[in-house]
Amino acid sequence: MNKKSIRNICCIGAGYVGGPSMAVIALNCPELIVNVVDINLQKIEAWNSDDLNKLPVFEPGLDTVVEKCRDKNLFFSTEVQKNISEADIIFISVNTPTKTIGLGKGYASDLKWIESSARQIAKYARNHTVVVEKSTLPVRTAETIKDILESSEEISDFGMQKEPKSFSIISNPEFLAEGSAINDLQSPDRVLIGGEDEESIEKVCSIYKNWVDPSKIITTNLWSSELSKLVANAFLAQRISSVNSISSLCELTGANIKEVTLAIGKDKRIGDQFLKPGPGFGGSCFKKDILNLVYLCQYYGLHEVADYWEQIVKINSWQQERISSIVIQNLFGTLSNKKLAILGFSFKANTNDTRESPSISISKNLIKEGARLNFYDPKVNEDKILKEFQEYEYEQKLNVFETVLDAAKGTDAIIILTEWEEFHHLNWELIFQVMRKPAWVFDSRSYLNIIQLKNIGFKVWALGQS
Ligand SMILES: NC(=O)c1ccc[n+]([C@@H]2O[C@H](COP(=O)([O-])OP(=O)(O)OC[C@H]3O[C@@H](n4cnc5c(N)ncnc54)[C@H](O)[C@@H]3O)[C@@H](O)[C@H]2O)c1
Repeated sequence: MNKKSIRNICCIGAGYVGGPSMAVIALNCPELIVNVVDINLQKIEAWNSDDLNKLPVFEPGLDTVVEKCRDKNLFFSTEVQKNISEADIIFISVNTPTKTIGLGKGYASDLKWIESSARQIAKYARNHTVVVEKSTLPVRTAETIKDILESSEEISDFGMQKEPKSFSIISNPEFLAEGSAINDLQSPDRVLIGGEDEESIEKVCSIYKNWVDPSKIITTNLWSSELSKLVANAFLAQRISSVNSISSLCELTGANIKEVTLAIGKDKRIGDQFLKPGPGFGGSCFKKDILNLVYLCQYYGLHEVADYWEQIVKINSWQQERISSIVIQNLFGTLSNKKLAILGFSFKANTNDTRESPSISISKNLIKEGARLNFYDPKVNEDKILKEFQEYEYEQKLNVFETVLDAAKGTDAIIILTEWEEFHHLNWELIFQVMRKPAWVFDSRSYLNIIQLKNIGFKVWALGQS
């Protein structure tokens, strides 16, 4: 079998990971052809849009990379079969959400998109193909992928013996953070490559070596690599839940969460990164990856370990409930017929991703109390926002605005839920004038200048401060 060198890469899945990660490979490896395929035609059309503001993923710097590479060595298409059959390496970057039905419901990852990708690869790949897991997967998923690839490789659709094929499976989880994806991909803290076959590991390494210092490329066995991604996300989420749990204690004791995190972050063993308090983690990954870890621990009989990690998700939900209650209590215990402005709908700044955004759960809590909500987000459009509330009569109760000032008109309170930089530079005097009094600002990110707001006349609540 010809174990050919790499010329042609195919990535299945043109989402938040597949799109940016392949764009950065194309940028740094001009000699490679990178084809990103997806079954979602609308998404592919958006990736191919002449207007770079219409790319389906917003990430600072992504438009420039796409502009440089698209239609040169980076292609977006729905031609899954053709691109799989021409690829030397196939990255699987499809979604792996939490199962909503059946065995492991609410905890385990739903691997149906992984399975269908593996079946497509088994059917259309030719000769020797390196299959790379880029999606986040439960440990030992490579075994499942291998079974699918190996069981269908020899027989054609008509039961005839086919040309021989072979596959190697590599785990190469993605550690990018949305909002800084291009920077993270260009200068990763590390690249993790797990596998069993040295030649394939080296092939994948050789791609990254075009721009990543070899000392940052870690190679491990398959299972360590798969598990490391889940553990990395669990540790990151744990940090957020830890600081958020302390934010509540600060509010009651007169301590200030900003001062506490500054003080503890100076300890090198703790470090000062990822210590910002907020309304809880969102995004498509943290919750699902921890729940997946919990499921794995339960599966292996490690019930105490499962309970330990599950608590991080519980604290996260509690923080969102807590913030909703604080808003309600401060607005005299009722939101009936009150208008509130929700500033920020993405789960964090510098992304248009709203999956699991705290804005969704907090807004729902406020709507249930009778509030009318005015939304503003610099990067999330009206359709995407209103889609989250389809079960409510949003025509009358929910509105989306193009400016903060319009969103603030006639409201009793502004609730900051995403830490967009532009909220620092608002004309707060003007905003105060258009609001009903007493006018409140609830700063769930604890990042605005409270003294300035109070001097204008606002009543202010800031997370982790009394
Ligand atoms: N979003 C992040 O920040 C992030 C970071 C690291 C890892 N991950 C992991 O990467 C994976 C992908 O995440 P994402 O955020 O990019 O998801 P996404 O939902 O944005 O994109 C997945 C894409 O795969 C496509 N797809 C599904 N099945 C397909 C098939 N059989 N053929 C072709 N296309 C198919 C979907 O249409 C979708 O566009 C997940 O496992 C996630 O946990 C995500």
